[in-house]
Amino acid sequence: MDLRTTYMGLELQNPVVASASPLSEKLDNFRRMEDAGAAAVVMFSLFEEQIKHENAAIEHLITSGAESYAESLSFFPEIEDYETGPDEYLNLLRRATEAVDIPVIGSLNGITNEGWVETARLMQEAGASGIELNAYYIPAKVDTDGRNVEQRYLDVLTAVKAAVSIPVAMKLSPFFSATANMARQFDEAGADALVLFNRFYQPDFDLDELEVHRTLELSDSRDLLLPLRWISILYGKVEADFALTSGVHSAHDILKAMMAGARVAMTAAALVTATAAGLWASEEEAVRRGAKDPGPVVVDEIAGQWLTYLVALPFLPVLTSTHLVVFTAAGFLLFRFFDVVKPWPIRACEKLPGGIGIVADDLAAGYFAAFALLIGWKIFV
Ligand SMILES: Cc1cc2nc3c(=O)[nH]c(=O)nc-3n(C[C@H](O)[C@H](O)[C@H](O)COP(=O)(O)O)c2cc1C
Repeated sequence: MDLRTTYMGLELQNPVVASASPLSEKLDNFRRMEDAGAAAVVMFSLFEEQIKHENAAIEHLITSGAESYAESLSFFPEIEDYETGPDEYLNLLRRATEAVDIPVIGSLNGITNEGWVETARLMQEAGASGIELNAYYIPAKVDTDGRNVEQRYLDVLTAVKAAVSIPVAMKLSPFFSATANMARQFDEAGADALVLFNRFYQPDFDLDELEVHRTLELSDSRDLLLPLRWISILYGKVEADFALTSGVHSAHDILKAMMAGARVAMTAAALVTATAAGLWASEEEAVRRGAKDPGPVVVDEIAGQWLTYLVALPFLPVLTSTHLVVFTAAGFLLFRFFDVVKPWPIRACEKLPGGIGIVADDLAAGYFAAFALLIGWKIFV
């Protein structure tokens, strides 16, 4: 089935995009997301404060905008949760764009246009295919009116649009009093896409400890309803493309997003949960096996690796202990090579449905490695 779509001018293979989350902090994860079928990845946000005060321990923008009971307004991961300064961010962005074939979208978080907008241009230079503006502002000052708040968002968008030639998406909160009018204003200010809606930390009170508890409640499919409603309302009324974020956990959720009029469905919580569950299971397995290294153990890789040895061994004269060391090391390196690079048809095997797809690529890599080992042995040994 042809699932291709376009989103903010980008040609995508399908409408599933990895939303901004800590998964994009690691280069390997970009490859994993691409292998798993993500059509694009939005990186975690680089915060305005990180750009302005690279090494200072500073407060999060929203807490400075909300002088009173700041903790209870702390909606988002603290800046320190993302330990990346602008240089590291740009470096990771550059390496990520080189490592994968899918578009990588940089994400900027800020609500003034003083000093940090230049970073948008640097993101473009680093290879970003687009920029997502994760602008939000908690208007906690009683003398700040709605018009003033809206203008801040528009000023940021206008400034970033002027700084770059790549497409710019505006990620919205659901808290505007006139969402439809705001969408039109963003559209007129040049937004190439509107991302509905961001989801924030909701601090709670801990009744045992009697203190504010920073919780991160991950979404579930019920959270889909709000963006679904708004994209349906706005569809056809603005030129910008729509991305749906919040509550995308299943194929049905993606279909609903498309029915509402979204060009892409973005997912974060589902990816974070699946990764955490995978890591937990792997670590449990490693501990159960008594492995010293508690890193992930992947049983399909073990199967592929053994296949290399089992297929190659009967055909090779492994006579001495040196032979055995060379055979083992070469088999290991060759399997790793084919498993990581995944030349055709190994990558195609990975796309087979269900559990078959999980093991088929490793088994194919095992056969390829065995074959390469046989040829190499004939030539060099
Ligand atoms: C742990 C975590 C970190 C996130 N960090 C960012 C971020 O840096 N920038 C951003 O724009 N959104 C961030 N988000 C929001 C997600 O990109 C997404 O829009 C939101 O979680 C709703 O989608 P979901 O229901 O699929 O989780 C984060 C979400 C999670 C769960």
